[in-house]
Amino acid sequence: MNPDDDAKRLVPALVEVMRRRRSVRAYSAEPIPDTVLDACFDLAILAPTSHNLECWQMIDVRDPHRLAALRRVCLDQPAAVSAPHLIVAVARPDLWRRGRAMMLDRIQQEKGDPTLSDATRRFMPLFEKKYRILIPFLFEDGPFHILAPMKRFLFWLRARLKPVMRGPFGRHEQALWAVKTAALACENLMIAVSAYGFDTCPMEGFDEPKLKRLLGLPRAAEIVMVIAAGRRGEDGVVPQFRFDRAHYVGRA
Ligand SMILES: Cc1cc2nc3c(=O)[nH]c(=O)nc-3n(C[C@H](O)[C@H](O)[C@H](O)COP(=O)(O)O)c2cc1C
Repeated sequence: MNPDDDAKRLVPALVEVMRRRRSVRAYSAEPIPDTVLDACFDLAILAPTSHNLECWQMIDVRDPHRLAALRRVCLDQPAAVSAPHLIVAVARPDLWRRGRAMMLDRIQQEKGDPTLSDATRRFMPLFEKKYRILIPFLFEDGPFHILAPMKRFLFWLRARLKPVMRGPFGRHEQALWAVKTAALACENLMIAVSAYGFDTCPMEGFDEPKLKRLLGLPRAAEIVMVIAAGRRGEDGVVPQFRFDRAHYVGRA
């Protein structure tokens, strides 16, 4: 197919879906069908993922008691109280070892694939080396991230010679690193939900320690946002405020 034909078909549809997405604060009681939610989660999974380490998760809270508690933890704000679904997006930097193991497994499988192109076959050893050597070197910080300052210093020394990646080292940097990937998955999810004609509201207004306790999450987990989802109710949106492009986009 001609790429121009694709663009003529896909761009208006994408623009419509992106313009349709609004933060909705009032919902009808109609739930989103599981098939639709699953399709949206599958699209969230397609978001870019740093080092392909899959350090995020989304918890679709269904248990009625937990859902009631979650609404309280979300400060009983209107979106949390009225939405039939609350999905907790969590960054899990602590899961890097699991992601590494999954990638190494997949690389082994792919290497045995006879349909692999020559270019991909040549790339595989490099890829494998990355997960065997570079990833543990970047992410293994020792107990309580005790090695992080030393690694920072080593990389600083190396950077005197040529530009190098400076981390993420230590709890804070690794949390931030995982939050970036998780936030991209959140946006994919919200766009997907909008494409199916339903609505969302990202929420940062919650009591994080209480939410982590409610879901039994470890200390290293960072709650990125809680996403309310459902069908837009009456008076669910307020006017959308955005400013001139020059406020957001620069040229250098
Ligand atoms: C990280 C983040 C946290 C947010 N937290 C809340 C929240 O706690 N409650 C809420 O009603 N809206 C929340 N919002 C929604 C914003 O208020 C909303 O995106 C903004 O007003 C623009 O409106 P629009 O999304 O409809 O374009 C949040 C948005 C983001 C990106």
